[in-house]
Amino acid sequence: MYSDKFGRLMLGLCSRKPTSVVRSPAGRSAFSWTSVCKQRTLWLQRSACLEVRQHVLPCQISSARSASQTTVDPDEVKRFQSLASKWWDERGEFAALHSMNDLRVPFIRDNLLNMHRRRQPGKPLAGLKILDVGCGGGLLTEPLGRLGADVLGIDPVADSIGTARLHSSCDPDLCERVRYRACTLEELSAEGEGGEEGAGRFDAIVASEVVEHLADLETFAFCCNHVLKPDGSLFITTINKTNLSYALGIVAAEQLLRIVPSGTHDWEKFISPVDLERLLESNGFSVQSVRGMMYNPVSGSWSWTDSTAINYALHAVKLREEPQPDRAEAEADSPDPEYQAHAAAAHN
Ligand SMILES: C[S@@+](CC[C@H](N)C(=O)[O-])C[C@H]1O[C@@H](n2cnc3c(N)ncnc32)[C@H](O)[C@@H]1O
Repeated sequence: MYSDKFGRLMLGLCSRKPTSVVRSPAGRSAFSWTSVCKQRTLWLQRSACLEVRQHVLPCQISSARSASQTTVDPDEVKRFQSLASKWWDERGEFAALHSMNDLRVPFIRDNLLNMHRRRQPGKPLAGLKILDVGCGGGLLTEPLGRLGADVLGIDPVADSIGTARLHSSCDPDLCERVRYRACTLEELSAEGEGGEEGAGRFDAIVASEVVEHLADLETFAFCCNHVLKPDGSLFITTINKTNLSYALGIVAAEQLLRIVPSGTHDWEKFISPVDLERLLESNGFSVQSVRGMMYNPVSGSWSWTDSTAINYALHAVKLREEPQPDRAEAEADSPDPEYQAHAAAAHN
């Protein structure tokens, strides 16, 4: 998904007519994009009916989603474990993540400057504490540190954290401001308010190309809220759940051309901007902006686009809790069982 090779494939497929027939290298099987998209649309319509029923009962869907209460999918961890030494190869598997910095770093910087109005030339993010969730080898953590922020990068893959530490140690300017830990967001969140890095400690959280690899988004959103300060920012980049992302990311790359091993991407884990917004708002966030992103495989560069059909970036802000004495009293008498379950999970 992140390599130049995949980018070239995407461009090739995008430039095909939708009805064209693609032959396998062996020339045995024919494939119609139109029929894939039709089947996908039917399938989506059936899923939509299911979702409508689920939305009628938001509490039930929410409890079902948080049943596992861990964001970790062991298969994803295994996959990234096998790539842990490749992070800083700019022409390798993560080439597109390197070039994505051209969009995501200014997106994060400018939105934070709008929120915090800092003016320190050269180090505009000085004084801000940022948590980079799923930092991998630190491709995004490092540039945020160079902008002056104190950044903590976390990832459940210990070998990726090893690669990130080794790489940042080469730059003395980063030693003071960038740190890494091999842990999950829920573990950090469980450290509570007393800890230096636990609840309510961060001005911003970054989760770039991460949510599509998580086992439980409800737990992710809940813990993000828990570790952020009031008015703190959450930045997410991810992949939309559309026919196009299915056709390019799953059918073409995995099943037809076998450019990436079958099972690398789980389309079920992709999320649309609308669903992500709904999830965040139900966890105490207000979404400020959503922007489409487009990768040009020829130039290897990213640009902003009006379409969020494949990739997009989102900025949300944690809402301040308004004191509501009546409700607080009522909750003290009769605590919300869902909140208690989350809080217990976060503190265990
Ligand atoms: C596509 S990489 C993105 C890395 C980095 N954010 C970047 O853009 O350069 C996805 C990362 O998510 C991490 N990851 C997988 N499951 C995770 C979880 N439950 N919590 C945090 N990170 C996770 C992987 O180990 C991997 O480093």
